[in-house]
Amino acid sequence: MMQTPYYLIDRQKLLRNMEIIAHIREQSGAKALLALKCFATWSAFEIMRDYMDGTTSSSLFEVRLGRERFGGETHAYSVAWADHEIDEAVSHADKIIFNSVGQLNRFAGRAEGIARGLRLNPGVSSSSFDLADPARPFSRLGEWDAGLVESVLDRVSGFMIHNNCENADFALFDRMLGQIEERFGPLLHYADWVSLGGGIHFTAENYPVNAFCDRLRAFSERFGVQVYLEPGEAAVTNSTTLEVTVLDTLFNGKHLAIVDSSVEAHMLDLLIYRESARVEPDEGEYEYMICGKSCLAGDIFGTFRFREPLKPGDRIAIQDAAGYTMVKKNWFNGVQMPAIAIREGDGSIRKVREFTFADFERSLS
Ligand SMILES: Cc1ncc(COP(=O)(O)O)c(C=O)c1O
Repeated sequence: MMQTPYYLIDRQKLLRNMEIIAHIREQSGAKALLALKCFATWSAFEIMRDYMDGTTSSSLFEVRLGRERFGGETHAYSVAWADHEIDEAVSHADKIIFNSVGQLNRFAGRAEGIARGLRLNPGVSSSSFDLADPARPFSRLGEWDAGLVESVLDRVSGFMIHNNCENADFALFDRMLGQIEERFGPLLHYADWVSLGGGIHFTAENYPVNAFCDRLRAFSERFGVQVYLEPGEAAVTNSTTLEVTVLDTLFNGKHLAIVDSSVEAHMLDLLIYRESARVEPDEGEYEYMICGKSCLAGDIFGTFRFREPLKPGDRIAIQDAAGYTMVKKNWFNGVQMPAIAIREGDGSIRKVREFTFADFERSLS
């Protein structure tokens, strides 16, 4: 048995999502780029490469990783490029998407060799978290003013619009796309391509995938554009667990179990968005609050039910640990960083990365 903690990527489960992406590409004509901000574990790219067109990025390092480790079509986007980054970003990319007219005007000349685009902000979003809402008041994420964008149309061939957030509601997606069509229609007619960003939960159970494909195709035909999708979470959802071991149990009014991992260090988004982790089957008569081993008082995965009392040495699999986990893991408290492993089709587990004291030491100076 492999030493915990480790993230365990299940090839078969990842392939389930990939098959849905392949179907959407075929049915809708849209291209699909993996959003590296969500998942950048490059050992798994060989599982994904045949089903996706390439990658999109949020920084110079991500665009380089996408080009070198994934291949295919490589989109470069950043909220703001620095002067010393732009030439290298262009060298790795097929398209570069600027976040503002200011950045476009400043760097268009240095990106002449590749396609250029601009991020638009339609002012509507599906996010219920202010923190993650690209359309929040005064949002810096893209240009809102169609008139201003019209004045730079000669410098771009397409647009990126990201305003969905874990949106599993097709009717809402459809409505918001309608608002985009209304607000930016004349600009979209001019474009060759439009990326609709990520945040569309088309791999969720019972998502009406065919209606989604029809809507994408209709949008593409109406404006004469190549549509791109930038799935992050939808590409990797439910494919990965964080495997941990119980180190101690105590009773402080509730039964507590401390495991060899940390929410703060290994599944940070749960804390940021104040969500509970998921454990399956979460059934039985014994209830435990599963706690991380960092010193943060609120380092808690959640409260779950078990069929037997927990004891040191018991293993627990924290579900859905692929998106926004490995890309955000950190060395808080010097807690052992989880290794990364892949469960192959035959059930065998292959370790693809482990982290040592040297990695911890090298992360600072
Ligand atoms: C521009 C852009 N594209 C794609 C994504 C990926 O989103 P998700 O992981 O929700 O699919 C994000 C997420 O923030 C984004 O900002």
